[in-house]
Amino acid sequence: MINFEYYTPTKIAFGRGVESRTGELARAFGAHKALIHYGGKSALASGLIGRIKASLDAAGVAHVELGGVVPNPHLGKVREGIELAKREGVDFLIAVGGGSVIDSAKAIGYGAAEPDHDVWELYDDAGTRRPAKCLPIGAVLTIAAAGSEMSNSSVITDEKTGLKRSCKSDLSRPRFAVMDPELTVTLPDFQTQSGCADILMHTMERWFNASGTLELTDAIAAGLMKTVMKNARILRDHPDCYEARAEVMWASSLSHNGLTGCGSDGGDWAVHKIEHELGGMFDVTHGAGLAAVWGSWARYVLPECPKRFAEFAVQVMGVAPAESDEATARAGIEAVEAYYRSVGMPTNLRELGVTPTEQQIVRMAESAASVGGGRIGVVRKLDANDIAAIYRAAL
Ligand code: NZQ
Ligand code: ZN
Repeated sequence: MINFEYYTPTKIAFGRGVESRTGELARAFGAHKALIHYGGKSALASGLIGRIKASLDAAGVAHVELGGVVPNPHLGKVREGIELAKREGVDFLIAVGGGSVIDSAKAIGYGAAEPDHDVWELYDDAGTRRPAKCLPIGAVLTIAAAGSEMSNSSVITDEKTGLKRSCKSDLSRPRFAVMDPELTVTLPDFQTQSGCADILMHTMERWFNASGTLELTDAIAAGLMKTVMKNARILRDHPDCYEARAEVMWASSLSHNGLTGCGSDGGDWAVHKIEHELGGMFDVTHGAGLAAVWGSWARYVLPECPKRFAEFAVQVMGVAPAESDEATARAGIEAVEAYYRSVGMPTNLRELGVTPTEQQIVRMAESAASVGGGRIGVVRKLDANDIAAIYRAAL
C-alpha cells in the first residue's frame, strides 16, 4: 500500500424526498443568493426545479436560474453562467442534474470566483493556470453516473474546437449532495445503463494500476462493481425498483470519490481519455463510449499485466481460473463485454453509432496523447500510435 490522502468533504443527504432539504442545506453552508443550474428539460418537466425554488424560498435563500446545459457541457454556457453570477452577486451554486450540470456549475464557480481570468485556462492542455478559488456548490442529483457530486473533477467541452478537457481541484468538491433515488426513475433505459457503465468504469480505471494488489481496497472495489452490474441488470427489467436505484446511486458517489483507489497509484484512466475524444468529436454519451472502447483497450494492454486482469476476472466477473493468467484474463474481458451486451451497451464504435475516418482517428489519438504530455495510462503507457491502434480495434 502506498501513501495516500483521502478527502471527501461532501455532506450527503440520501433517500426519498431529501430534495426538500436543499434550501436548509444551502443556507447552512452560507448561501445568500444561489444560481440554480439545470439541463435541457427533465428537471423542469418533473417539477423538480419548482420544488427546489420553494425549498430555497422557505430557507430565505434568494435565487436566479440558468438552464440549458447539454450532455458534454459547453464552455459557452459556462461563460453565460459566469456573467450571470457576477451580475447578480451570486454566492452559491445549486446544480440540479447529472454530471454535465454539476461540471458546468463547477466551471461557473471557478470563473465567477476569479473574474479577472479566463476560465478555459484551467482546462486547456497547457495547464496554463491552477484554480485558486471556487464558489461553493450544492448538487441535487438526478442521474447516477459521473460521480461529480463528490468528485474533484469537472469536464467541459469547448464547442468551437471540439476539445473536451477536465480540471481537477478539491476546491470544486460540492459542499453537499442531495440524492433521492426516486428522481432517477424517469431516466430512459439507455441513460440508466450508460450511467451504470460509467460508475463501473470509475472503479475499473482504479483497479488497473501499476502499484499492485491491495486487500481492503480491492475488496471494496470488487463489491462495488458486482453491486453495480447486478442492479443495472435489475433496472433493465424493473426500472422503477427503488432499491436498485438506491444501490447504483450510492455506488456512483463511492466509485468516484477516491475510496476505491486508496493505497494505489490512482489507476490507469486511459480509457476515459480515449472516450473523452469521442465525446468532444462525436458528442456520444460518456458511459456508452467507455463501454465501446474498453474491450479494445483491455486486449491491447493485457500482455503488460495478465495477473491483475486475472484477479479482476475471478474476483469481479466470477470467472473460474484457467490454465494461465492470460487465459483467465481473456475470459474476464469477454465476461465484461457479455455484461455490456446484456444491458444494451455497445462493445465497439459501430454499435456506439460512430464510424471515424482514419484522419479522425489520428486526430483523436494525438489529442488524447497530448492530455498526458504525449503518453497516457499507467499499466501500459500509450502514445498516439498505440491509441490510434485501440480506436481501430474498436471500429
Ligand atoms: O438535460 P436533461 O433534460 O436533464 O436530460 C439529461 C441528459 O440528456 C438526462 N437526465 C438527467 N437526469 C434525468 C434525465 N432524464 C430523465 N430523468 C432524469 N432524472 O440524462 C442525460 C445525461 O445527463 P448528463 O448530466 O450528461 O449525464 P452524466 O451524469 O452521465 O454526466 C456526463 C458528463 O459527466 C462527465 C462526462 O464526461 C460527461 O460530460 N464526467 C464527469 C466526471 C466528474 N465530474 O467527476 C467524471 C466522469 O468520468 C465523466 O467524465
Ligand atoms: Zn466517467
